[in-house]
Amino acid sequence: MIRNIKLPHIFYFFQMVSTFFSYITTLWQIFFSIILKITSKLLSTTRNKPLLPPGPKPWPIVGCIPQMVLNKKPAFEWIHKLMEEMETEICCIRLGNVHVIPVTSPELACLFLKNQDSIFSSRPICMSANLVSNGYLTSLFLPMGDQWMKMRRILSSHVLSATSFQWLRRKRDEEADHILRFVYDQCINKRLVINLRKVTRYYCANVINNMIFSKRLLGKRIMENRGTLVELQEDQEKQVDAIFTLLEYFHSFGISDYLPWLSGLDLDGHKAIIKKAFLIATKHIDLEIDQRIHIWKDGNKTVEEDILDVLIMLRDTNGNPMLNAKEIKAQVLEFMLATLDNPSYAVEWTIKEMLNQPKIMQRAIEEIGNVIGNNRFVQESDLPQLNYVKACVKESFRLHPLAAFNAPHVSLSDSVVGDYFIPKGSVVLLSRLGLGRNPRVWDDPMKFKPERHMNEEGDDVVFTDSELRLLSFSIGRRGCPGVKLGSTITTMLLARLLQGFTWSLPPNFPGNDLTDNYPESAFLCTMPFFAKAKPRLPKDMYP
Ligand code: HEM
Repeated sequence: MIRNIKLPHIFYFFQMVSTFFSYITTLWQIFFSIILKITSKLLSTTRNKPLLPPGPKPWPIVGCIPQMVLNKKPAFEWIHKLMEEMETEICCIRLGNVHVIPVTSPELACLFLKNQDSIFSSRPICMSANLVSNGYLTSLFLPMGDQWMKMRRILSSHVLSATSFQWLRRKRDEEADHILRFVYDQCINKRLVINLRKVTRYYCANVINNMIFSKRLLGKRIMENRGTLVELQEDQEKQVDAIFTLLEYFHSFGISDYLPWLSGLDLDGHKAIIKKAFLIATKHIDLEIDQRIHIWKDGNKTVEEDILDVLIMLRDTNGNPMLNAKEIKAQVLEFMLATLDNPSYAVEWTIKEMLNQPKIMQRAIEEIGNVIGNNRFVQESDLPQLNYVKACVKESFRLHPLAAFNAPHVSLSDSVVGDYFIPKGSVVLLSRLGLGRNPRVWDDPMKFKPERHMNEEGDDVVFTDSELRLLSFSIGRRGCPGVKLGSTITTMLLARLLQGFTWSLPPNFPGNDLTDNYPESAFLCTMPFFAKAKPRLPKDMYP
């Protein structure tokens, strides 16, 4: 048989085998190169895919809530401490299934609110915001959407516009005069010390009430007798306190906002506190608004005299009311919240810092003397020239922000910010505290130094910072629409208190010690500040 096999056949056979093997080899080569490509692609995409910002390891389902709750400190303090330990200016903390992203870097903050503002311009759905805004009716609390656009347009065009600002000036002037009388009366009644927190809140509450209701203070009128000691009536004080309780709790870290299945239990008690404060805060406001709506309905009013009239009389193109009673009530409460807190807190802190560094107070008083003299009191038209006084206020906004974090912003889609992946629905918290005290940005950040905001050219000092090195009014779509009003009432209050009175520190008042636990407790000063005051100008100048 073997002999029967001819040479060409053998050759042919080997050729076949060799071709077969060469095919197999090529196929293997192709197969391997495909596998290699896929693997390297996969590897490179995982390697290049931006990661979440660094953060503590979350537990399944509850995320980092156990760490947050077990930590004895308030949530904002725990977060800042964590970031300090991790040496990071952005962090990702998972609470429940929500990614919470605190930020203390101005550069990253600008990427969120400038470069990608449209993605980060919504607000979270949360229990506190829902209760305070009476079901998401007003601009501050509303997630992005038609209702927010409507309310924001109304604010910018009809309430906080330049025209309205001028139109309401007389009412602000009345309160700027009245605050002088309020303090003066306490001085001549030999009040040994004055509660500065009460004074600053009293002024802010009066300004916004006068602009909205053409009335001084919430509820019943209190004093109109000159020369008598003026006190807030108990009811009205309760109302102001309730507004501050709402301010403290809205957008706080409520457990049920991150674990909605626990909402019925109100584990941290926030819901009960907010509900109670809301009832007290709105009792008089709602009554007043209902009465005014009736007055207009009955035809007993024909001329708009204040913000409430404007809100009631707003009409759309078809002549229908733009706002219903519920929306007006919610918006009026929001005005109160927005006006009462930041200005009063900033002025209280500025005077407290000045009394601990009297040279700063002296320089501010000299500036007022040089610009205005001693024959009249500061007017709103003088404020642009009071650059040092404004620098003092700005320094308070930097060093002593009212709240640790800005109002929360929520992302509407997945995005990449800096090198980090930020998933849709993340809650971005720009840290007012971390930005204003960032040692990379500010020299000697814990020191109250107003000069840092002045420049040699003598440019106008403005409170906003477009680079977000400090967060006063914020920027972008959700930035504060009340910048002009807020800046004016804050500066006016400080200027009048400095021009009208000589302030000094009373000994041994617990709220007055700046070194006690400083800096940790500096931004959360729960003790009101007390000071002694003496009129600086002739008696007949006080209104
Ligand atoms: C010194 C005074 C004030 C300061 C420092 C201040 C600061 C702020 C800040 C930080 C925000 C959040 C911005 C953001 O989410 O990025 C805000 C929002 C807001 N502020 Fe002010 N504010 C002041 C006064 C006022 C006044 C007097 C009003 C109006 C009566 C006002 C009305 C509002 C409203 C309606 C929003 C919500 C904007 C939105 O979400 O669309 N603010 N403010």
